[in-house]
Amino acid sequence: MLRKTFASLAATALFILVAPSANPQTPAAILTIQADQPVSAVSPTLYGLMTEEINYSYDGGLYAEMVRNRAFHSDWSGVPYWYLFENGNSAARIELDKTTGPSEALSSSLRLDVQQADAKNQAGALNVGYWGFALRPDTTYNGSFYAKAAASDLGPVTVSIVSDDSGKAVVSTSVSNIAAEWKQYAFTLKTGAIQPSSATHLVLSVGHPGTLWLNLVSLFPPTYHNRINGNRIDLMEKLAAMHPTFLRFPGGNYLEGDRIADRFQWKKTIGPLVDRPTHPSPWMYHSSDGMGLLEFLEWCEDLKMNPVLAVYAGYSLRGEHVPADQLEPYVQDALDEIEYVTGGPDTKWGAERVKDGHPAPFKLTYVEIGNEDWLDKSGSYEERYPPFYKAIKVKYPDLQLIATAPVKNEKMDVLDEHFYVHATQNFHDATHYDKTDRNGPKIFVGEWATREGFPTPDFGAALGDAAWMTGMERNSDVIVMAAYAPLLVRVDPGGMQWETDLIGYNAMKSYGSPAYYAQVLFAQYLGDHTLKSTLEGAGPKLFYSITGNAEKKRLFLKLVNASSTPQPVEINLSGAKLAGTAKLVNLAAQDTQATNTIDDPDRIVPVESTLSVSSRFHHTLPGYSIQVIEFSEQ
Ligand code: AHR
Repeated sequence: MLRKTFASLAATALFILVAPSANPQTPAAILTIQADQPVSAVSPTLYGLMTEEINYSYDGGLYAEMVRNRAFHSDWSGVPYWYLFENGNSAARIELDKTTGPSEALSSSLRLDVQQADAKNQAGALNVGYWGFALRPDTTYNGSFYAKAAASDLGPVTVSIVSDDSGKAVVSTSVSNIAAEWKQYAFTLKTGAIQPSSATHLVLSVGHPGTLWLNLVSLFPPTYHNRINGNRIDLMEKLAAMHPTFLRFPGGNYLEGDRIADRFQWKKTIGPLVDRPTHPSPWMYHSSDGMGLLEFLEWCEDLKMNPVLAVYAGYSLRGEHVPADQLEPYVQDALDEIEYVTGGPDTKWGAERVKDGHPAPFKLTYVEIGNEDWLDKSGSYEERYPPFYKAIKVKYPDLQLIATAPVKNEKMDVLDEHFYVHATQNFHDATHYDKTDRNGPKIFVGEWATREGFPTPDFGAALGDAAWMTGMERNSDVIVMAAYAPLLVRVDPGGMQWETDLIGYNAMKSYGSPAYYAQVLFAQYLGDHTLKSTLEGAGPKLFYSITGNAEKKRLFLKLVNASSTPQPVEINLSGAKLAGTAKLVNLAAQDTQATNTIDDPDRIVPVESTLSVSSRFHHTLPGYSIQVIEFSEQ
């Protein structure tokens, strides 16, 4: 054994002497991997998604609804995003009418009083959409609205998408026979050979004097998997490419709301849209609640993700908390929610889900109790957590329950920890979990990100993320799940409430940041166990993770060089018979500030090539690079 070690050292020394070095100042690091010596399991659910209503993530983002403020939520300024439309010599006024609406949940409406109008001089209401309406050629848009008309004949309602530049309708249809009672009307808009554009707005107008009330004006483009009330295709495709295994929802601070009354009340987010009252989100805009509990679950279904359901635990962001002796209804609400997700048709809330169009129960493994309850300076989580834990475990003993702050009074199956840091902190802290007690709770890194660059992370942030991810993979026997946050950002002016978000978009386009591609690579090339390995002679900015998948006969080596200079590495790989060629994926930039943008989305993307490998080979990482080497075993 000793002799073998000497022999290998001698060979190494010789190799270093003759190996080409990209930078004579940087000595080669020596990475030794023993492929036949597994160390610990890698969680198959390590990488997943965390989202909430922030940065127009759902409304104006993933949730494909195009009409902004479709339910006429009003504030001090009136009814935001809706304006009076008067063409030619027409005359009309619009105002919020609090006396009538299509449902108990939507009990008000937009009242349009037309004094003067004719077919060529129409009057109505105009909606600006989420920074315009993205129109593409040869596409069908499905719309609807609730309306009622006063007795006088208003004639048909014309629905048009109008060019901001020409003032002319790009596409248009009409809806006739508006009744005197509230009713829903459906329509389609079909474009022809038009130029794609989002410099457009929506107009609903009439050509006769009279009164019209409107609510829930909705318009959807084609959606992912053609779901009604579904999601944007480009964003879903970008999320799918991240190979996510779970979705933590509904948030974040969005779960808690600013105040108790503003929390995510799941029962008000299910069923027909007209029965959803909408609610204020803590991120300074009103939520349509189109992305409700069932939509989150269907999103999971579409991307084959496990739901990680966060239930409200009696604490809201601005410091209000529910006293322990008043928690019972909140605990019951959480039990009802779990029943809605997992219950059969013979249960009260399972039957409700069946009624909402989803007969099959969803598989649920994890439930999170609250969010960031360490922020509750009253310390009440110690009293709030146990009743939830006990009641859920009695009814659902197999569920794994996640605590959001350490508690002493009750067991924590899993503890959720959050990290928002700069790249340097991630370089220093990549070993964060190396010494974590394996007898304690499992860890869910439920929100983490290197916050550098805005709206989306730059390459320096991607390097920080990649360094951190090598540490998470190494410790994935204890880290069961991890999710970057926030995931999505609207890049239009006013669209961002939180800097550094993984994926950016406007109405027409979306793009992945360099950090997005780092996520894609780490999740795509994930083994099921780590391998015994050592790294010697490396500087403080070289990080790696080595995992294997015995069934697929693959080894995945991730290397991160966060230094500006190339880093030579001698790789000694024993215990596996390797194919002579490996796949190399390189994500690199010349500078930490380099980034992708909405108009230059592909500046930094992974580049694949092949690499000649053997049981001992030399490899040089470029400066500022993140690489994956996928070895095949023979
Ligand atoms: O991700 C943004 C916010 O950061 C989340 O809502 C909250 O949980 C955390 O503080």
